[in-house]
Amino acid sequence: MKLAIYPGTFDPITNGHLDILERAAAVFETVYIAVANNIHKDPLFSTEERIRMIKSCTLHYPNVRIAQFDGLVVDLAQEVGASIIIRGLRAISDFDYEFQMALMNRHMNDKIDTVFFMPHEDYTYLSSSTVREIVRLGGDVSAFVPKYVKEELIRKLRNTQ
Ligand code: COA
Repeated sequence: MKLAIYPGTFDPITNGHLDILERAAAVFETVYIAVANNIHKDPLFSTEERIRMIKSCTLHYPNVRIAQFDGLVVDLAQEVGASIIIRGLRAISDFDYEFQMALMNRHMNDKIDTVFFMPHEDYTYLSSSTVREIVRLGGDVSAFVPKYVKEELIRKLRNTQ
């Protein structure tokens, strides 16, 4: 049985992440979404808030689980028994960073491989920070995030200005 983990900051999760997740969940028995606490990125949403949003839009996937982590992604993979790390490649510009990370992860644990999925082309220019920026400036992100995530963004960004 192949277990995979899909790590990221997910601040917040977007339709682009969900597109990758859906593709991965169709291939692997179980996919863990691994939410990095990632204090270095100073996330807008707390880990609990990010997990709540992920839960709300992944309830219909029977083989998706959620985990959070502080340490190395390869250590989490080993802990949950996953041999695959899922990453998305949106554009050529993602490649250098992803290539370096995949090789470094494999250097740290050569039993764990990285598998890349490409999201639908509608999402190639999408990122969590773009979505945050659009909401902050009053724009509409309905096409880019699930309804609950949009509401959470508005609550967080427009009520705190
Ligand atoms: N759709 C939409 N946006 C996407 C996307 C997709 N399919 N894939 C990536 N993105 C966006 C993210 O939203 C994020 O946007 P932002 O920077 O505007 O917020 C950006 O692309 C970068 O995302 P990603 O590459 O997934 O990085 P991340 O910061 O979310 O996660 C970790 C990086 C957590 C996976 C990585 O730092 C890690 O593994 N850390 C653990 C420590 C470790 O093991 N380090 C050794 C690695 S060699």
